[in-house]
Amino acid sequence: MSETVKIIYQGKEYEYPVIEGTMGDKGIDISSLRLDSGLITLDPGYKNTGSTLSKITYLDGEQGKLMYRGYPIEQLAEKSSFVEVQYLLLYGELPTEVELEKFKASLKDYSFVNDRVRKILNGFPSTAHPMGVLASLTGSLTAFNPKVVDVAHAADMFHAVTRLLAKFPILSAWTYRLSKELPISESDPSLGYVENFCQLMFSNQKKDFKVNPVIVDAIDKLLILHADHEQNCSASTVRLVGSSHAGLFTSISAGISALWGARHGGANQAVIEMLETIKTGGGRLQKWVDKAKDKDDEFRLMGFGHRVYKNMDPRAKIIKKAADDVLEQLGIDDEVLDIALGLEEVALKDEYFIERKLYPNVDFYSGIIYRALGIPKEMFTVMFALGRLPGWIAQWKEMRQTDQPIGRPRQIYTGATTRDYLPMSER
Ligand code: ACO
Repeated sequence: MSETVKIIYQGKEYEYPVIEGTMGDKGIDISSLRLDSGLITLDPGYKNTGSTLSKITYLDGEQGKLMYRGYPIEQLAEKSSFVEVQYLLLYGELPTEVELEKFKASLKDYSFVNDRVRKILNGFPSTAHPMGVLASLTGSLTAFNPKVVDVAHAADMFHAVTRLLAKFPILSAWTYRLSKELPISESDPSLGYVENFCQLMFSNQKKDFKVNPVIVDAIDKLLILHADHEQNCSASTVRLVGSSHAGLFTSISAGISALWGARHGGANQAVIEMLETIKTGGGRLQKWVDKAKDKDDEFRLMGFGHRVYKNMDPRAKIIKKAADDVLEQLGIDDEVLDIALGLEEVALKDEYFIERKLYPNVDFYSGIIYRALGIPKEMFTVMFALGRLPGWIAQWKEMRQTDQPIGRPRQIYTGATTRDYLPMSER
């Protein structure tokens, strides 16, 4: 017998089914509530609102578990590659050798960007934030690929998706080169996806330029860890924009803008800035923890806390270890890592953080690796976007292929009641 929930309102009883997911998570299906009773639910920030059924990513915030298509993130980070994870997220299964080769070949085929996009890039000042440039360039791709994706047609979908995945590393690297006033770089078809991205970013004019494999491996792992995180702010933005049947590139451009904010992907830049400030100020950790607890102070400990994780973010655990390994392999001794470790220790012993279940999130240690790899902090959120792209596309694809209705929340109006217009002379 399936479970139901009853709502009693003004003496009338309404009954709603409880929907259970494959991992046991449950929700009340209230989709007919307003029609039945005239009521809506009010849930600012959607803390209790499920916007969709989804087969892509599962996370258990209480236990600190994350899986893509059923595969634990720990296994994927250790054994898989970013390109394989892209395929997994998009198509639901790990690819066979033939499928993976076809996917990779398609990514290489589309690994170029229209010359006019370069002109748009050159229109930005080198001081522009790379995330703003990336959102604009991604949106501009719509103009060069105006054909609407036929979501019912597998081949059309495959080409639209691989086209965007192939062009995005180029656009991402170009935002960096703009900020450094470096000449534009071109894709090298002999290289793998992540290695090609690294050379697009860092290549100099020397013929024998080669990216350090330690850097390629570290970036590959970071991209896997960022690849999807179910209905977060940017993925929900992509779905919401896409639900109007706006195109793929436009929907992704909106997701990039959502990710930019300091409470979302922008936190990785904010973490490093915070750690650097603590270092310059003499490293007094308790002072910063106290500041974060002070309700009269807007400051929050960046890289701490998460809407869903009320336990250690599993990605933070992997990244913390990776940060250690990368610094060791590159022979870098970074005082900022010691500050981060110390800050984590102080915060995790503090009643305020314990009570509110505030743990380090994915952004707390990722910036330390990016810094060690020579990636400037303004680029950290672009790195996040590059990793998150397959997740956004998978969410968009699932939303379109399951024919979701247009996203349109309701509200409870609290403004002025009906009043008559006053002419200017009477105001
Ligand atoms: N430092 C100090 N206090 C915090 C922090 C923090 N980093 N995070 C949450 N709190 C406190 C809040 O002040 C609140 O306290 P109260 O109950 O006394 O009012 C309580 O913990 C709950 O916090 P909310 O803001 O209600 O939690 P929410 O789920 O809305 O926010 C968020 C989650 C935005 C991530 C928040 O923890 C935060 O701002 N963290 C810092 C920014 C950050 O690291 N963002 C990256 C998130 S991961 C990602 O997007 C990839």
